[in-house]
Amino acid sequence: MLILGLESSCDETAAAIVADGTSVRADVVASQHDLHRPYRGVVPEIASRAHLDRVLPTIRAALAEANVGFGDLDAVAAGVRPGLIGSLLVGTSAAKGLAWGLGIPFLAVDHVEAHLHAGLLEAPPVAFPAFGLVVSGGHTSFFEVGDTGVERRLGRSIDDAAGEAFDKAAAMLGLEHPGGPKLAALARTGDAGRFGLPRPTLDRHRFDVSFSGLKTAFRRTVLGVLGIDDPSADPRDAAHSLDDGDRADLAASFEAAAVDTILAKVGLAFESGLRASRTLPPFRTLLAGGGVVGNERLREGLAEIASRRDLDLRLPRPAWCVDNAAMIAGAAFARAVAGERDGLDTAAEPLSIWSRPDAPEPR
Ligand code: KG4
Ligand code: ZN
Repeated sequence: MLILGLESSCDETAAAIVADGTSVRADVVASQHDLHRPYRGVVPEIASRAHLDRVLPTIRAALAEANVGFGDLDAVAAGVRPGLIGSLLVGTSAAKGLAWGLGIPFLAVDHVEAHLHAGLLEAPPVAFPAFGLVVSGGHTSFFEVGDTGVERRLGRSIDDAAGEAFDKAAAMLGLEHPGGPKLAALARTGDAGRFGLPRPTLDRHRFDVSFSGLKTAFRRTVLGVLGIDDPSADPRDAAHSLDDGDRADLAASFEAAAVDTILAKVGLAFESGLRASRTLPPFRTLLAGGGVVGNERLREGLAEIASRRDLDLRLPRPAWCVDNAAMIAGAAFARAVAGERDGLDTAAEPLSIWSRPDAPEPR
């Protein structure tokens, strides 16, 4: 079964063609980072216009890469939530139009759930239920995952997502948006122990985390290194005067604090023998996804927990950690093969169902 997936939730226009849920035949991503960089963040109106320009060429490029035509497709899937609404509408409308025109099913995919499918691409099947971790620019969430997708949310960041905190910290060091990967590259040469930063655990027995305290503490630390007494000063305005050694030590100290915060919760899940239900054995599979899972320090920490506990850890390759359409096409497969489809009246939505107040919580 050949599924065309489309992704346009933020600042990447992506199209991919995936066979049978895991075999990636084409994977095309048109990034808009260059358009947003001057504004130090994603500008929604610029993003939706760029998606409109790029969506059809991206789809054509994916068909060419897979060496197939529209008539070979069995279904079309799109990430319909969460994201910037104007951006989501472009990929969602393109997918519905194609599905209608070709007379094949349209499938609506939750982008956060799709991040958990990335580790299953080009990989053998896993045992479910799994413990799932999504750490991206918009989400930091912990899930119980079954063979047809997320069953319930176990916890989340109560304020900023980890990726957003990485990007804000990077901006304070004078790094261009999106700064997460640049901060991580700098951290490699820095001393992670030089600056003591908080690792807020909130309730030690639950899976909720917080990054706003770390962000504030980091801001104060950067101002301190810059010798600025005014607590309301913006470190971004003075970041150019940081010396390279200080900048690397600050980056390494931030990265260590953010990564430790995430690892503490993953450790909690496996050390406490967390299980999906009383009748099932503890989780043996750890699925991770989202841009921040491309971070080397986090990957090493997850690998260490997995080897200590003998877990089946699925880390997506870095290109599938960040936003892509292969994970969208892959995530749609289980429902498509079961004969399901979504109506062409399915709405794009800015929020994940897992952010709603009525989302299923831990039992
Ligand atoms: O999953 P993604 O592409 O988009 C969302 O769904 O949000 O994640 C992008 C986020 C950005 O905040 C980016 O700075 C962060 O992932 N990121 C990283 C690294 N690579 C990407 N953060 C830390 N270390 C990295 N190596
Ligand atoms: Zn994402």
